[in-house]
Amino acid sequence: MEGQEVSSKDEGHKMLPVDGPGWSYVNGVLHCDGMSLEDLRMSLKKDYGLQGSPAHIYSYSALVANVKKYTDALCPLGERGVLSYSLKANNNLRVLEALRQAGVNMATTVSGNEILMAMKAGFAATNIIYNGTGKRRWEVELAIKHGVLLNLDSEFDARLIAGVAREMGLRARCIVRLNPALNADTHPYLATALADSKFGVEFHQLERVLQVVRTGESGDVEHVIVEGVHIHVGSAVSRTQVFSDMTRVAARALREFPPQIRERGWPRASTINLGGGLNIRLSGVPGKNDERPATPEQLVGAILPLLPEGSTLLLEPGRSLVATAGSCAFTGVLMTEVLGVKTNGKRRFLVVDAAMTEVIRPALYGAHHPVTHVTIPACQEWAVMDVVGPVCESGDFLARRCMLSLSLSSGAALVVWATGAYCSSMASNYNLRPHAIEVIVKAPDLYTVVRRPENFEDLISCYL
Ligand code: LLP
Repeated sequence: MEGQEVSSKDEGHKMLPVDGPGWSYVNGVLHCDGMSLEDLRMSLKKDYGLQGSPAHIYSYSALVANVKKYTDALCPLGERGVLSYSLKANNNLRVLEALRQAGVNMATTVSGNEILMAMKAGFAATNIIYNGTGKRRWEVELAIKHGVLLNLDSEFDARLIAGVAREMGLRARCIVRLNPALNADTHPYLATALADSKFGVEFHQLERVLQVVRTGESGDVEHVIVEGVHIHVGSAVSRTQVFSDMTRVAARALREFPPQIRERGWPRASTINLGGGLNIRLSGVPGKNDERPATPEQLVGAILPLLPEGSTLLLEPGRSLVATAGSCAFTGVLMTEVLGVKTNGKRRFLVVDAAMTEVIRPALYGAHHPVTHVTIPACQEWAVMDVVGPVCESGDFLARRCMLSLSLSSGAALVVWATGAYCSSMASNYNLRPHAIEVIVKAPDLYTVVRRPENFEDLISCYL
């Protein structure tokens, strides 16, 4: 152990990484919506054996609280303030249903299968948006057939959509995605509106794109309805300044582009879709997260004065509904069990049963997800540890340099925080690991398994 960092001080690391509804420590045990996570894990073990861990746990009350933050913020706009949930953040069918029932009006999708999933969750097809840089014909056909709102991303996308609509003898509802050349000051992989990003059309290309759908090869105006514009600067955006810049650009789009679209023959173009992007806030995590990300209220407050009379504001958050943001609440954690402790060189490793297959974000973006104990140990000796999984990759870590109890041993439970967004939906079967079980907790004595764990048969079922 020589050279390793050991501490006997309480540094606050055993506490919740952020305050909010849904989660609390009661008598030293983490509770979700009043249910002890120790009780929950015993119950999952009883019903699912070893497949009961790791487990994605979602708090129903946190989810509802997050939706309310947005619906309250959009309230001044009445029916012209629309909340559309971005499915890519978490596409669990029951999570989608819960979001819809909690007040989410629309669903934002990026594939044909996400469109089908949103419809299965009860969203009316006309309340679904379909984004995408590379749409395939069957996906465009599906969207047009059901009246889904398509987000037009390029000239070739415009040609495809107009052509398919013409062939089908139907009208495609569209908005146009603009690339405002804005730096979202986020991880490079999460910035989507840089001048050289792959998304959207540059302002100077707009005219051309509108021309394509208006005249196409044979007068496609009959087959395309342009309803407005879309800007999404990126995800995990921490600096509120970025949102102000975005609002300024959006204001310009409001002033200039819908009238331009109107002049080209679509008199009802009035939708302004400002995408998603609010970052999560994790207290005690150094760096950008120390800065409080904008809340839905601040975001809408900044946009409202710039909205032209009669326009519809559409927001399509993902992360801030199912993870946490600004003043929003944690929705999901990943509960995992310790398999063993080992040391190599000066590093102490806590090997757990979860891995990069369940939480890819640390390996992919260098994201930090705090790890805490499910039961705060009596032992007051703490040490710095890397929490790693069983996957055969050195990049398989859930969190590095965490302060955790020296008393941890095989069988103890930990939680990885803020895993409600972009964890289950980005999971993989690498190393033939099954997709983890998912649970929504609603009350001290009420939880629902909303995704059963995969088994070996599931994993081999597609091999012919
Ligand atoms: N609208 C559009 C057009 C988007 O591209 C995205 C996310 C959203 C809305 C929702 O953004 P959110 O509110 O969730 O930030 N896998 C990455 C995140 C990729 C986000 C892609 N687009 C991660 O784990 O952080």
